Amino acid sequence: MKILVLNGSPKKKSDTYRLTDAFLKGLNKNGEHEVHVVNVIEKKIAPCRGCFGCWSRMDGHCVIDDDQNEILDLYRDSDVIIWSFPLYCYGMPSHLKAVLDRTIPLVKMKMVQLPDGTVRHEALADFSRLHTVVICGCGFPNWEGNFDGLKKTCENCFGNPDIICVPEAPMLNIPEAAIVADPLLARFEKAGEEYAGTLTLSAETIAGLETPMIPAEAYIQNVNSAL
Ligand SMILES: Cc1cc2nc3c(=O)[nH]c(=O)nc-3n(C[C@H](O)[C@H](O)[C@H](O)COP(=O)(O)O)c2cc1C
Repeated sequence: MKILVLNGSPKKKSDTYRLTDAFLKGLNKNGEHEVHVVNVIEKKIAPCRGCFGCWSRMDGHCVIDDDQNEILDLYRDSDVIIWSFPLYCYGMPSHLKAVLDRTIPLVKMKMVQLPDGTVRHEALADFSRLHTVVICGCGFPNWEGNFDGLKKTCENCFGNPDIICVPEAPMLNIPEAAIVADPLLARFEKAGEEYAGTLTLSAETIAGLETPMIPAEAYIQNVNSAL
């Protein structure tokens, strides 16, 4: 399988990417897959101009001549795409959102209404083999609503993705927290193995990956006591 990882953390030492790396370790345990990691922050990707030039040309590329066209080529060629990024203001970091906005060349202007009433643009090519995983780490403890907007965006944009949202992610890069972070990383590796077999994750597995490392009250206290 061809696996494309879009790493949307702007940091060299990303909390979220630790999770993604563990997931990839399980997913590519036997080294049989081709994994291509794009560090989006290192790429030159302008915001979408909204010109719809792509829908005039319909060649799967953007009229802006920058690194996005290389990503679109990789996108079309992938079996699995992993979007790995930190939660920023309840959504994707802006440089990664630019990548998402500029996947518009991969659909046509033509609209289709699905049986459940939702409306989509028809795909430019057959993407039925493409599977999407979203791995998002965030700085807050778990609270209802933190990930709602992001989840809706991902469901609408990616069809039926496996979405994993992890609270308290900064603990992944704190050596003193290894006692609770390491078991989570081990669960991510195991989940990668599960994914390699079925190309999906059970609700039970996702719930295990999203379980906070420590209770919210203790996390808030730790953060505040460091101030
Ligand atoms: C600009 C900005 C916005 C953020 N917004 C949120 C947010 O809405 N909710 C949240 O829980 N954490 C938020 N965070 C915290 C990050 O998600 C958190 O630090 C994460 O662990 C960083 O992951 P990374 O190391 O993979 O980049 C924000 C951080 C920044 C810098």
